[in-house]
Amino acid sequence: MIKEVATTPYDDQKPGTSGLRKKVPVFQQEHYAENFIQSVFDSLEGFEGKTLVVGGDGRFFNREVIQKVIALAAGNGFGRVIVGRGGILSTPAASNIIRKYKAFGGLILSASHNPGGPHEDFGIKYNIGNGGPAPEKITDAIFARSKVIDRFRIADLGAIDIDTLGETRAGDMIVQVIDPVTDYAALMETLFDFDAIRALFRSGFRMAFDAMHAVTGPYAKEILENRLGAPDGTARNFVPLPDFGGHHPDPNLVHAKDLYDEMMGPDAPDFGAASDGDGDRNLIIGRGIFVTPSDSLAILAANAHLAPGYKQGLKGIARSMPTSCAADRVAEKLGIGMYETPTGWKFFGNLLDAGLATICGEESAGTGSDHVREKDGLWAVLLWLNVLASRGKSVEEIVAGHWAEFGRNYYSRHDYEEIDSEVANRLMEGLRAKLPNLAGTEVSGRKIVAADDFAYHDPVDESVSRNQGIRILFGGGSRVVFRLSGTGTSGATLRVYIERYEPERAQHRLETQEALGDLIAAADAIAGIRAHTGRSKPSVIT
Ligand code: G1P
Ligand code: ZN
Repeated sequence: MIKEVATTPYDDQKPGTSGLRKKVPVFQQEHYAENFIQSVFDSLEGFEGKTLVVGGDGRFFNREVIQKVIALAAGNGFGRVIVGRGGILSTPAASNIIRKYKAFGGLILSASHNPGGPHEDFGIKYNIGNGGPAPEKITDAIFARSKVIDRFRIADLGAIDIDTLGETRAGDMIVQVIDPVTDYAALMETLFDFDAIRALFRSGFRMAFDAMHAVTGPYAKEILENRLGAPDGTARNFVPLPDFGGHHPDPNLVHAKDLYDEMMGPDAPDFGAASDGDGDRNLIIGRGIFVTPSDSLAILAANAHLAPGYKQGLKGIARSMPTSCAADRVAEKLGIGMYETPTGWKFFGNLLDAGLATICGEESAGTGSDHVREKDGLWAVLLWLNVLASRGKSVEEIVAGHWAEFGRNYYSRHDYEEIDSEVANRLMEGLRAKLPNLAGTEVSGRKIVAADDFAYHDPVDESVSRNQGIRILFGGGSRVVFRLSGTGTSGATLRVYIERYEPERAQHRLETQEALGDLIAAADAIAGIRAHTGRSKPSVIT
């Protein structure tokens, strides 16, 4: 029944910021997925007889890999696999299931906001028992193991039915197919004032939620329309498709442009939102106003106490280093801790587990709290709805009020995609070499007060993560940050994060790129982006 199959290693199975992410044809190579999954199991101890959760965002190749995971889990001695019906689980829902059912860990199959399809992206990520992404210690072990793996253990089960709810026996293991939405929706009901949000919709409040043909469709239908009474049609593109309808399931102003245009138009609904491929990111737009993820984090932190799940107040706030410092001002006012971590959700896990932070966020449209150990797109949307319902104000009024109280952090990210990896590394090395001499100099009329290569000292496990991005700090709270993406699948992506703080009650409204003009020029002057890459402008501006 259980076979040991000889295999040869691949040398490119290094998990990045969010697991192993490659093009589908790479994953389709013989034993490629089996090798990686076995390398995960070989890097873990003590799971015999325990539970593994598996689910994905429904993208192309999802169902095939679900079957492989089940067969390998049985071959390796897991006692139970919990799988979302149809192989579907959003990333935050998977995190919740791992926690709720006290599973040993889980495998989440997704490439997040990257496109899906036979020639697009696929990914596998391992999450530990707290529901969060595996720490570096484990991902390093997985990579090391993948380089020498010579066999995997797999049970000969035939195709397992993952479309019928209930339990079936698979060798010595139980496969339990669960509804992907029920537990998640129940968790949301404990956190938010559903009665108040229902009343808001009854009063004629209009919302547009774009599920982008990705995993949040069924969640949004059930929660927004069925449980909260939002009108039919509030959730759009709600049927998950293996290729996301040929679009990028990335809820930003480029890929959710239709929603953005509608929200800026004459007949805009009151509230617009979207989520990504696997449901962990969010886009928030009010009528006539886009809320940057950094501002959204700050505003949600300042208002979270209005939701029942957070009425005791927050223990602390955490944000990734490149995220704007808007939330820092909220933490200061509330008198709570503020933590600045490297990019990637895994760094929040320890802070949440230790009760140091309650809410966390990243500039890349990730916001979440200690209710799970992943960022959570619909959670952010529901917290916004709760705040709108409690305060009886528009998104625009809430944002304007926030800027008036805390000042405004103009913020933008410029991405230079698919640049040659060597060129990208040379650019970063050049910057590092310059670092010691930058403080005190003036660039594009702005004075640099400090410059460093960000290193994070985890206050809980005391681990140190170095080289997490170059920070150039200017006087008055403005900054430019440079780092290379850890999630790309071809070439390198340079990310430049630009931030300008305006304390004066921010009554004037500048267009963002205009407000950041001199800092954008400074970024190029310091890093020599044009000179190194030959690019005259970024590929994507968010
Ligand atoms: C990107 C985002 C980062 C996020 C990650 C996973 O990583 O910048 O904030 O945690 O995706 O969703 P990057 O490509 O920059 O390494
Ligand atoms: Zn995602």
